[in-house]
Amino acid sequence: MERKEFLNKISGGLAFTCVACMMAACSKDDNTGSGNNTGGNNTGGGSTGNTLLTINLATQLLAINDFVSDKGIIIVRKAAGNVVSSFAAFVNACPHQGVAVTFRKPSNDFYCSPQNGGHGSTFSITGAVTNSPATSGLSARTIEISGTTLSVK
Ligand code: FES
Repeated sequence: MERKEFLNKISGGLAFTCVACMMAACSKDDNTGSGNNTGGNNTGGGSTGNTLLTINLATQLLAINDFVSDKGIIIVRKAAGNVVSSFAAFVNACPHQGVAVTFRKPSNDFYCSPQNGGHGSTFSITGAVTNSPATSGLSARTIEISGTTLSVK
């Protein structure tokens, strides 16, 4: 085999190899992108770790039974002190038909008021149902406190 013939064979082979590599690389990139979107990112971001509501404890929820209802969350101060056990946070949606509940300071409970479209269910400070038609309690959320910043997750 002459040198020119040898080089032609080699370069042709390399060109074929490179085209095959590029196709494989493109295919691999496409699969990786798809994998990231449907795997880690979406699954991880949905229900764990996201801060749903932030409260400044220097200015909010100062007294026992103070509450905040915002961003689909309702949070109540149950006791003195800026520790997690002093608060209760729930998704603000009645388990009966999803109406937002209010906190009633005099009775220290959550109420799904007919004035807001609800049907009168009540829930204890722990979120447990105490009056039907709801048959299950409010959905509790995780509370974290750092200094005077309370985060509901
Ligand atoms: S939606 Fe709350 S009692 Fe019906």
